[in-house]
Amino acid sequence: MKSCSKPRVGYISVLYLAAVSSLLAQVCSAVKREDFKTCEQSAFCNRHRVFAETMLKNTQALDKGSTIPKTASPYSVLENSVSLDGHTLVASVQHSEEKVPLRFELSFMESGVVRVRAQEEEPLVPRFDDTQKLVLRDEGTALPYASPGSIELVTETIDQVTTHTVSYLKGNSTFSVRMAESPWSLDYLVDNKPSIRLNTKGFFRFEYLRQKPASDEADTASGEWEEKFKTWTDTKPNGPESFGMDISFSGFEHVYGIPEHSSPLSLKDTRGGDKNAYDQPYRLYNLDVFEYELDNPMALYGSIPFMVAHNADSTVGVFWMNAAETWIDVTREKSNALGSLFSRSSTKQIPAVNTHWVSESGVLDVFLLPGPNTADVYRQYAELVEPTPLPRSFSLGYHQCRWNYIDQEDVLSVSSKLEEHKIPYDVIWLDIEHTDGKRYFTWDSAKFPDPVAMQNELAQAGHKLVNVVDPHIKRDSAYRIWKEASDNGYFVKTREGSEDFQGWCWPGDSNWVDYFNPDACKWISEQFHIDHYNQSTDNLFVWNDMNEPSVFNGPEITMDKDARHHGGWEHRDVHNIFGMLYHKATADGLRTRESPSKRPFVLSRAYFAGSQRYGAIWTGDNTAEWSHLQASIPMVLSNNVAGLHFIGADVGGFFGNPDQKLLTRWYQLGIWYPFFRAHAHIDTKRREPWLLGEPYLSYIRDAIRERYRLLPFWYTLFREASITGMPVVRPMWIEFPSETKLFAEQDAFMVGSAIMVVPATDSNTNQAIDVVFPSQENWYDIKTHASYIGPTKRQFSVDLSSTLVFARGGSVVVTRERHRSSSDLMKRDPFTVYVYVGRNGTASGRLYVDDGDTYDYEQGAFIERELSFSGAKLTSRASTLTKDTSAYRDYLKKMAKVRVERLVVVGLRNPLTKATVVENGVTREIELSYKGAANDAECVVRDPAVHIGEDWGITLS
Ligand SMILES: *[C@@H]1O[C@H](CO)[C@@H](O)[C@H](O)[C@H]1NC(C)=O
Ligand SMILES: *[C@@H]1O[C@H](CO)[C@@H](O)[C@H](O)[C@H]1NC(C)=O
Ligand SMILES: *[C@@H]1O[C@H](CO)[C@@H](O)[C@H](O)[C@H]1NC(C)=O
Repeated sequence: MKSCSKPRVGYISVLYLAAVSSLLAQVCSAVKREDFKTCEQSAFCNRHRVFAETMLKNTQALDKGSTIPKTASPYSVLENSVSLDGHTLVASVQHSEEKVPLRFELSFMESGVVRVRAQEEEPLVPRFDDTQKLVLRDEGTALPYASPGSIELVTETIDQVTTHTVSYLKGNSTFSVRMAESPWSLDYLVDNKPSIRLNTKGFFRFEYLRQKPASDEADTASGEWEEKFKTWTDTKPNGPESFGMDISFSGFEHVYGIPEHSSPLSLKDTRGGDKNAYDQPYRLYNLDVFEYELDNPMALYGSIPFMVAHNADSTVGVFWMNAAETWIDVTREKSNALGSLFSRSSTKQIPAVNTHWVSESGVLDVFLLPGPNTADVYRQYAELVEPTPLPRSFSLGYHQCRWNYIDQEDVLSVSSKLEEHKIPYDVIWLDIEHTDGKRYFTWDSAKFPDPVAMQNELAQAGHKLVNVVDPHIKRDSAYRIWKEASDNGYFVKTREGSEDFQGWCWPGDSNWVDYFNPDACKWISEQFHIDHYNQSTDNLFVWNDMNEPSVFNGPEITMDKDARHHGGWEHRDVHNIFGMLYHKATADGLRTRESPSKRPFVLSRAYFAGSQRYGAIWTGDNTAEWSHLQASIPMVLSNNVAGLHFIGADVGGFFGNPDQKLLTRWYQLGIWYPFFRAHAHIDTKRREPWLLGEPYLSYIRDAIRERYRLLPFWYTLFREASITGMPVVRPMWIEFPSETKLFAEQDAFMVGSAIMVVPATDSNTNQAIDVVFPSQENWYDIKTHASYIGPTKRQFSVDLSSTLVFARGGSVVVTRERHRSSSDLMKRDPFTVYVYVGRNGTASGRLYVDDGDTYDYEQGAFIERELSFSGAKLTSRASTLTKDTSAYRDYLKKMAKVRVERLVVVGLRNPLTKATVVENGVTREIELSYKGAANDAECVVRDPAVHIGEDWGITLS
C-alpha cells in the first residue's frame, strides 16, 4: 500500500490534518525525484565516483603492457603479511599515503565460493558486523569451508608483480584465486580464465575510521562529518567510513539482479558511452517511493545486493553483503585484454561488465560465486542465505485485496460474490482502515463488530483473512502496544540515544520498535499470538507494509540515518535490513502461535537478502498503466534471479483506474506471478472481477481458474526452489543458457522449466505478438495443444480472450481440474497428468504434495513422484528424497484414495487404442481416445485410477 492518500474526512483529526497538510501536499503528487538523493547528493557515493574517475584517468596514463593489471590504485599488500591459515588467506593491505593497515581475509568454501572480507586491522571504533548473523544460514557459524588439505598456495612473480595463487579442484573445473600484491587486485579464475576480478580498475577505496579534525579543518564540502539534504542534517559521529570496490565480470555482456529497481532485466549501463545509459548508479536503499517511475535505477522498497552474470559458457555471481546504503555503477567494455595473461595469444576482443560497488558503512564482506552453471550459482547462493522455504499452500492461490474492504459486511459480500461467480480465491485482505485509528492489533469495532465470526465464516469455505500490521506505533498512552513498548524501552532512539525516535506515519505521531533488540523482537512476535491479538484466529495472517521504514516527515521519507538502534548502532549501518527483521518477527509470531507450529504467511514490502525465509514480497505501489504491466515482468524476474522467489506485482495497478482491457490483461499475466494478488488504492473505483461485466468477467475467471488448475505444478516448483534455490519464474537464459539472443529477453519467461509465458501487454486488443520457440524442441499451446517445432519464430495475432502459453516438449505437468472455491477444498481432489512428448519421444516431471500447512514434511510426510515417459509408457516412482518414516506412512494413508483421474499425452504421432495399467502387480486395460494427427495429436486416458502415492506404469499401444 501507498505512501499517502488525499486526506479524507474522518481519516485523521482536523488538528493533525492542519499539521501535515503541507507535508501531504509535498508528498502526494507523482514521483518527486527531488525527494530522493542522487549520487551527487549522497556524499560518500559522490566521493567514490569522483575517485573512480581519477583512477581511470591516472590508469590510462600508465604503461599497460603488463600481464597483471597495472592501475593507479594506491593500495598494496604489505611485505611478508600474506599467510594461509586453514581455509583463510590473510593479508595486510595499505594505502601508499594513508598508512592505515587493512586486514583482508579470503576464505575458501567447499562449493568454490570465495568470501572476501576487509576492514581496518584496528578500527578506531567497531564497525557494524552483525549483517552476517542476520543474513547468513545459521548466523554464518556453519558455512562449509574447504578443508585445509584441499587448498594449495603458490607465490610467484609475474612481470615484476608478486602474486599469491590459491588453487583447488572442484569437479572438473579448476578454481583458483590470484591476488596481486602491488597494486592490490584479485582475480577469480575458473579453468585458468579470469572470471570475477576485483580492483583491476583501481577503484578500491576504504575510508578508515579517524579522529574528527579540528572543526575548521573538517571538510564540510565533501560531507565527511556532516551532510545536509533539503531540511535535514545527517550528523556523522564516526565521520567517513564508506568503502568501494570495482568488480569486473570478464567475458560477460549481461548482468542481472540487484533488485529492487524498475529497470530492465539485463541491467543497463549507468555511465560510459552507451546512449541508453542511466546517469545514476543503481541504488540500494529501502524507500517508500510514491508513484515510482519506470526504467530508472532509483532505489525502491527492497534491496538484494546479489548480482548474477551469464554468458554462453558460464554463470557466476557476486553477493555484496552489506546492510547500509549502497550504490552500484555498471559499464560494459570490450578490451583487447592486454591486462590478462591468458589471452595474449589471441587478439580477440573480450567483453566485460565492470561494476563499482560503494557502501556507506559496515565491513566489506563479499562472496564470489563461481558457478560454473546456473544451478551451481543458485546452490551456492542458497547455501549462504537459505533457499525459499515451502510456503503455506493456500498462499499460492488468489488474493483479493483493496484499500479498503470497509466493514465486515463488505468482506463477506465480496467473498460470496466471488463464490457466486465461480471465481476461486483463497484470501481476502484488510488494509489500515480496519483498525481503531491505525492502532495495529485492534479493530474498528463499529465496522467490525464480530471479527471472530467473520473469520470463522470465511474459514468455512477454506478462505483466510490477512490484516495489515505496520511497524509504526501510534503514540498514545491508552494504547496497550505503545505503552508496553514505551515502558520497556523497545523503541528506536534519537541520535543522542536517550529519547525515543518520533516521526509521522498513518496514525500521526509514531514510534518504531527496534528489531535489533532481541527482547523487543520476542515481545512483538508474541503480540501476534491469538491470546494477545484481540479477536484474531488461526485463520488470520499478516501483511507488513511501510517497513522500509516509511517516515512521512523523515529525510527521503524514511528514518534519520543517525537514529540509534540497540547496541548503539546507527540507523545508517542497518537501514536495509530493518524491514526484514520486522518481517521475521511477524513470521516468528505466527509460527509460534500454535503448537505444533504451522507455516506462517506474511507479506512484506521492504526486503533484503534473506527475506525469502519469512514470506512473500510485492513490488509496491505500482500504477494502473500498460507500462507498469510491462515493467512488472522484469521486476518479478530480477527478484527471482536474486533468490527472492515469492513475489508479485499488484494486479490491476495500485494507483489509478485500469480499464477493462488492462485489468483483463493484468489478470492474464498475474496468474504467472509467484505471488498473485489484486490490490487497489482507496481513491480508485471498485474493480472486483464481476464488476467488469462480460466478456471481461469470463476472461478473468478463466485466468484465475488456470492458476488453480496448475496449483500442484506451482507447489512442486516451490518445493524445487526450497531444495535447490532455483528461481520459480525464470528468464529465458536460465532455461536456454547458450542461446545468446535470449539473454536480454523479457517479453517471454519460463515458469519452472516446463511452461513458457508470452504475455500480451499492449493496449491494442488485437495485437500481433512474435513468439520465439527456442531449442530443437516441441512446444505445445497449453490450451489447444497445437504444436510448434523449435527453433522457430512465429507471429500470433491475439484478441483479449487469448493468451500465449506453451508447454515445453519433454515435460510432464500435473494439474487438478475440478472447480472449488478455494485451494483448501482441493486437497483431496484427483489429479490430471499431462505428458508433453519431446522430440525424442520422452518426457519427465515431478509432483510434490504434502498437507500444505504444517512442518510434518520435515519428518517425511509428503508424496514426491518422479514421472517419466518413454517408449509410450508413463511410470511413477517415489523420488529419492522420499523416506519410509512413520510420518510418511501416515500421510500415505491419508492420501490413499487420491488418484489420477485423467492422463493426457500430447504429441504422440501413432494412433493408439488402449492403455495398459500396472499397479501393485495388477494389470488392467482401458480404452483411450485419440485425436489429431502428426504433431497435434492428443491421446486421453479417462480415469486410469492409479493412486498418487503408489508406483505404477501406464503403457499406451
Ligand atoms: C568430468 O569429466 C568427465 C569426462 O569429460 C565426465 O565424464 C564427468 O561426468 C565430469 N564430471 C563432472 C562432475 O562434471
Ligand atoms: C477486545 O476487543 C473488544 C471489542 O472491541 C473489546 O471490548 C475488548 O476490551 C478488547 N479486549 C482487550 C483485551 O483489548
Ligand atoms: C531426450 O531429450 C531430453 C531433453 O533433451 C534428454 O534429457 C533425454 O536424455 C533424451 N532421452 C533420450 C532417450 O534420448
